[in-house]
Amino acid sequence: MSREFIPLPDAGPDPIMAANQAWPAFAQAHPDAVNTTIGVLVDPVSGNPWRPQTVTACRLNAFERTAATEAFGYQTPTGHVGFLTEASKLAFGESASYADGELVALQTAGGTGALSLADEILQELVPADSDGRIPLVLDAGWPNHQAIFRKPYAITTYEHSDPMTRTYNHAAALDAFDGAPEGSVFLLQSCGYNDDGNDRTPQQWQDILTIAEQKQAIVLFDSAYLGLAQGFEHDRSPIEESVRRELFTFVTFSASKNMGLYGERLGALFVANAEMHLGPGQTPRLGQLAARCVRRTESSLPTEVAMAAAEALSQQAYYAELSEARERLASNRAVFGEIVADVLPAVTEGHGLFTKLLTDGFTQPQLDVLRGEGIHVLPNSRINLGGLQPAKVERVGLAVLRALQAQ
Ligand SMILES: Cc1ncc(COP(=O)(O)O)c(C=O)c1O
Repeated sequence: MSREFIPLPDAGPDPIMAANQAWPAFAQAHPDAVNTTIGVLVDPVSGNPWRPQTVTACRLNAFERTAATEAFGYQTPTGHVGFLTEASKLAFGESASYADGELVALQTAGGTGALSLADEILQELVPADSDGRIPLVLDAGWPNHQAIFRKPYAITTYEHSDPMTRTYNHAAALDAFDGAPEGSVFLLQSCGYNDDGNDRTPQQWQDILTIAEQKQAIVLFDSAYLGLAQGFEHDRSPIEESVRRELFTFVTFSASKNMGLYGERLGALFVANAEMHLGPGQTPRLGQLAARCVRRTESSLPTEVAMAAAEALSQQAYYAELSEARERLASNRAVFGEIVADVLPAVTEGHGLFTKLLTDGFTQPQLDVLRGEGIHVLPNSRINLGGLQPAKVERVGLAVLRALQAQ
């Protein structure tokens, strides 16, 4: 008789990854199929994942430089200084400087790695309440947040889109953040909100950050789409405001979408205003703690891709390519939004890759219509506008209109 193990619960597949895995079979079954599911920006001509040419050129450079210098060793657990310097400028602008020692910074395995590292650090840093929990108020929308921040977090969230108007539900957000216990963590999506594209206005950000001040909250910005919503300067403004207000500010940065480095896992975790919140001498210890977390997980992060990103981020050509990608996204949204305007007027107000059409997702008959027309969709009705080649946007818009007539 073999020994007994704990029966595994049926965790089921992640819905977005499941849709991605189903895509090849779907594409084979439908000529000219369109994929609206996974959050990847595509090249307008090839339809393959988009990567700026500047990044590709720098990537090749980095490969050659490594080979020529035989720099095949480990990196430090902190990561590539050049990359961290450039990425920190994108995220913080003038508000805090890594070069001047005002930030704790670590290279991570994508934005997800940065969130996981933030999770580990917060567990070490934040005293739990009497029930052993750390209260966390979440801008939900990306299901992986709840998978990353598990025990001991007590998660509260709210309905991010108003069910009637489908625009950002600021009243519900204020209620949720206002109702949070002192010392909570506020996990905020800084721009290009995944799943509905409904970003906050500057005034709405002020309101949320004022509550954060009152609650002495730790603000954790997930900035996976930095630069892709309304440009770096605009997209980082809530982060800058948080730093200026002297809030204890964590930022998770991802190079997946804005540099097309999905498969190479490049990101960063930054922490600002640590000294004023933790006390003198504690910031280097925070750095040590973070480096220890990296040491026992990845140990050392990829070097070449970080070298390439550092080089690309220092070139004007990269920013020109990113602007073009952002303009394509905005144009896709405008075309799609105009087609569905009578029934879904809020679509055009969003920013970034996503829009979410219906509060409760598509019904089965609606899914049948869309899939019958070769449009691969998520049941929750989140559409990735960045995944559409411009020539296919109209077709998707018209198919959605037809689907919405089916109950
Ligand atoms: C809101 C949000 N945060 C974080 C991430 C993680 O990004 P990465 O692919 O760099 O791990 C994503 C990716 O889809 C995301 O949508």
